[in-house]
Amino acid sequence: WLSKPISVWRYRELLPVSGSPVTLHEGGTPLYHLQRIGEELGVKELYAKHEGMNPTGSFKDRGMTVGVSMAMQLGMSSVACASTGNTSASLSAYGAKAGIPVVVLLPSGKVALGKVAQALMHGARVISIRGNFDRALEMVRDLCEKKGIYLLNSVNPYRLEGQKTIGFETIDQLNGEVPDRMVLPVGNAGNISAVYKGLLELQELGFVDRIPMMTGIQADGSQPVVKAIKGDLPEVVPDLNPETIATAIRIGAPVNAEKVLKAIRMSKGTADSVTDEEILAMQRDLAQKEGIGVEPASAASVAGVKKLIESGEIDRNERIVCVVTGHLLKDPETVIKQCAPPIECDATLESLLAALHL
Ligand code: F0G
Repeated sequence: WLSKPISVWRYRELLPVSGSPVTLHEGGTPLYHLQRIGEELGVKELYAKHEGMNPTGSFKDRGMTVGVSMAMQLGMSSVACASTGNTSASLSAYGAKAGIPVVVLLPSGKVALGKVAQALMHGARVISIRGNFDRALEMVRDLCEKKGIYLLNSVNPYRLEGQKTIGFETIDQLNGEVPDRMVLPVGNAGNISAVYKGLLELQELGFVDRIPMMTGIQADGSQPVVKAIKGDLPEVVPDLNPETIATAIRIGAPVNAEKVLKAIRMSKGTADSVTDEEILAMQRDLAQKEGIGVEPASAASVAGVKKLIESGEIDRNERIVCVVTGHLLKDPETVIKQCAPPIECDATLESLLAALHL
């Protein structure tokens, strides 16, 4: 077992699939030490687990390798999801690998370009809903129930089984040490719940003696979970008009609401929100100070750490792991809008030197 390379399937004894999985070689993502950002914040140890390094560029592949394998094991003939983008990109690729038709429902005009490109190129039937993600999810649930299509949103428990391996890998990569805190961006709240579940299993099996404080970060304009945690509410109250530049987490009615509250409260973690400006500033810092390219939603986790350190809510002596969930190339439009355009020059050395002020 220990000799297997780090990947989702290294942990197959803790996963539900019995036959050979539908796999594109997911997991085994790098755990980067954020040296410069960590030093600037004065944090003892700050890491980023770069889930953008999965086959389709997000953590969703961990869930889909297990979810689509289970769809095949259960004899399903078609699969579907609603998505803010990444789930659809991933399901389209794994459906293609498995050779089964895929339907994806996307909120019209609110999905980053790279993600739509992936779903289209992998051959899914892509439907653009005139409504937000929460409505698209209600619709796909109805569709699947009425037409016997297998639903692969994070209401599907097998998805979460795959995603729990993020925690397993992190601890493996820290040579068996448990981080004090794990910080994740929260949308539908599947991922943070999945990681918590996996860590609990490790504790029950005796591999670890404690659980990191699970910390969820949302965008200011889309923060139902944060409001429930901060207001000490018994349940999450849906936000009817979620809005943020981080379209991946533009979700007002998270389906895993009950699970995320439990994960955060039982692990003595916390939740907070960050502004779109804070998200974009951290996306730039990760790219320019650490060489790590992530999409906006992913930068929310590290931006959240910065905010919580500065407010004194997180202790600087902690060992903190941020999960950065999707790749920079997922959302090129948001990047291009923020950066100065390339400097154009004539095709002569003289003109090049002038352009570079050299
Ligand atoms: N980060 C990225 C890049 C995401 O795509 C998502 C969710 C999240 C974070 C939040 O994870 O929903 O498990 O709390 N994207 C989903 C999708 C909703 O359809 O791609 P969560």
